[in-house]
Amino acid sequence: MVVEGNGVWITTDDGRRLIDGFSGLGCTSLGYDSERIAAAAHEQLSTLPYAPTFYGRTHPKIAALADRLVGIAPGDMSRVIFQCSGSEATDTLIKFLWARSAARGEPDRRVFISRRRGYYGNTVASVSLSGQPHMHAKFGLPLEGFVKTETPNYYLAHHDGETEQEFSQRMADDLERVILDVGPDSVAAFAAEPMQSGGGVIKPPEGYWPRMQAVLKKYEIHFHVDEVVCGFGRTGNRWGSETWGLEPDSVSCAKALTAGFFPMSALLFKDDLFEDLRANADEVGVLGHGFTYSGHPVGAAIALEALDIYEDIDLVGHVRSVSPGFLAGCEALLEHPLVGDVRGVGLFCGIQLVEDKATRALFDPALKVGQRVQDHAHDRGLYLRTIAPDRISFMPPLIIEPDEIVEATSRLAGALDDTWKDLRS
Ligand SMILES: Cc1ncc(COP(=O)(O)O)c(C=O)c1O
Repeated sequence: MVVEGNGVWITTDDGRRLIDGFSGLGCTSLGYDSERIAAAAHEQLSTLPYAPTFYGRTHPKIAALADRLVGIAPGDMSRVIFQCSGSEATDTLIKFLWARSAARGEPDRRVFISRRRGYYGNTVASVSLSGQPHMHAKFGLPLEGFVKTETPNYYLAHHDGETEQEFSQRMADDLERVILDVGPDSVAAFAAEPMQSGGGVIKPPEGYWPRMQAVLKKYEIHFHVDEVVCGFGRTGNRWGSETWGLEPDSVSCAKALTAGFFPMSALLFKDDLFEDLRANADEVGVLGHGFTYSGHPVGAAIALEALDIYEDIDLVGHVRSVSPGFLAGCEALLEHPLVGDVRGVGLFCGIQLVEDKATRALFDPALKVGQRVQDHAHDRGLYLRTIAPDRISFMPPLIIEPDEIVEATSRLAGALDDTWKDLRS
């Protein structure tokens, strides 16, 4: 039970203080206190605590935020629609692209391609786009028309002797195979995160994105980039798209949009999609889509303040300056007998635990090795998340300082030692 937060630290109801190694759920970019955000929220609550963004209505804060996001977005985004969560942004994307297909007289262009282990949300449609079998199994999901291509986990999936470039070509070939299987004219979009997060923090291998984008261009497939985790500095640039040279046709963001202080997401897209939506809406008199709390004024005030703070403290510059120490601390863990692979960028790192480093063999899931590391880390004062198969997802708040990084990585090393002792006994 977490009862309080300060800086990168959280306090539980039994009085323990833990370093947050997972930024809440990848969202608390500024840690757990900000007088400026509290003041911005208070002022907005006192001025206009609610206003809808439906049926031609809007309010100044959301208009300002829309302008701001369009100004900084990757690609030539010119339109924004707001929701309350990353999942709703994904659902909005799916609905808008289906509407576009109808508007263009291509009603069969409805298939979405994404990657196994990708994560884009938990509503019925967004979880169908996600490649997480445990989120489908008991729900009769995914919906039809959501197909998957490979996940670029070079460490676990490369063939002996295969280089990263060769592996990346194999990934791109699989994408092409899926497109051809479905039929290029049936594909509404390919959606991906610049670097997979919920799938276990999987850094794209060398040559991956240029090769994937070449296939998308060849078949003129809409490329949606999910910046929900990567956006606002996580990878050492404002956008993951910048880190890997992505050219998105649409973008979603959430989480650090409000530093995690308010539930808000945004879907950004270009004029051509907007014109198709307008054509469709004209036929029925309205664009029949939205949520009561979309574009909430308090969320907008908080997001505007968070974006100001990011600039005032040069958050991206800070991430770049502390990242080498963070990554070196993580890479030092490779010497540990449990650690087979460490791959990261910015303040975003995946650490793979294996039973046998030579063969990359994973532990029997029944041993719950990842869970043990998570529990020992908790006991040592580090909040972490491990994702099956036994992959540690390490992504502290972006304001973390070098001494806190040293403390966090040493607590993690201790948790690995504790787990190693468990397994030996
Ligand atoms: C990359 C990505 N997209 C979308 C989502 C869904 O966001 P939300 O939980 O706000 O619905 C998440 C959630 O973790 C995510 O990691």
